[in-house]
Amino acid sequence: MPTAEHVILRELLAREPNWVSGTALAAKLGVSRVAIWQQMEKLRAAGFGFEAQRARGYRLTQRPPALHAPLIETQLKVRPKNFSLLVLDEIDSTNDEAARQLGAGRPAPFAVLARRQTRGRGRFGRVWHSEANGNLYASFAFRPRVAPERMQTFTLWMGVNICELLANFAQLKPALKWPNDILFGGRKAGGMLTEARVDSDQIRDLVFGLGLNVNSPAGDWPGDLARRAVSLAEVTGAPLDLNRLAAALIGRVLLAYDTFADGEHVKTFADLWNRYDILRGKPVGLLEGGRRHHGTVTGVDDEGALVLRDGHGHTHRFRAGEVTLEKND
Ligand code: BTN
Repeated sequence: MPTAEHVILRELLAREPNWVSGTALAAKLGVSRVAIWQQMEKLRAAGFGFEAQRARGYRLTQRPPALHAPLIETQLKVRPKNFSLLVLDEIDSTNDEAARQLGAGRPAPFAVLARRQTRGRGRFGRVWHSEANGNLYASFAFRPRVAPERMQTFTLWMGVNICELLANFAQLKPALKWPNDILFGGRKAGGMLTEARVDSDQIRDLVFGLGLNVNSPAGDWPGDLARRAVSLAEVTGAPLDLNRLAAALIGRVLLAYDTFADGEHVKTFADLWNRYDILRGKPVGLLEGGRRHHGTVTGVDDEGALVLRDGHGHTHRFRAGEVTLEKND
């Protein structure tokens, strides 16, 4: 249900940078001009900037730097039936909140976004630093009826879609490091964490989590991370519109999910993966269950496993593990 805030934002965005008359807004919503003024003050308190003139009305001069649910919803190009969005100020982990909401029966698909996480998690139970510094912490919940083996390809498919989104949204050139890292110039800007609950032979529900460093200032991370992490703003040289990016991300993830659920992703996956894959043809070390393997990456197989060729020309497939690039001798 669109609220007064949604209607006002929709009008202002549609006319930007032109004016929207307060009288027209009041008539549209069936409220007084004073009620419109009160709504504008509420939006101002949330970080919007407006110019107001008695004869002309209002026009938008500034958008909020922090996540704002109605602004994201207003900018969604397509909104699938049943989709809902939760934008939270602070949560332990958006993946955990999405799992709790699924457990409580919330209809899927839905997305949980937070301005800050207190227990953001990465792969292998690592901490995902999640300060309120203009980054995206997002989880998407689905109830697919597919076999658990398809989860690995799901993350890789989401990865290529997020790279495509970033390439189109901000003319960026991201790279993917199997299975879940999004990199720029060898530094990590994003990580994905897919978690599923499984009933005997089918996935009951699935949460896809994405942490994306968008606007955090350079060197904002603790210790060693400052050297290994990067934000999109550092790459482009200017801050990005977080709410517009969030809306584009939601659109892309929902579309990518549908393509995956229909099995249509197989038509384009391999080409897209090769476009962004940073490991192909490189010598790597892969740590799996305490053992270190070495080889040259030849690609990923249909199940999303990483394929390595060892020094004897033998091929090995890995469904899990941590990869590090090794120097060519
Ligand atoms: C990784 O690189 O190891 C994956 C990082 C995933 C982080 C995101 S942030 C949103 C969602 N909530 C979490 O607790 N983790 C994921």
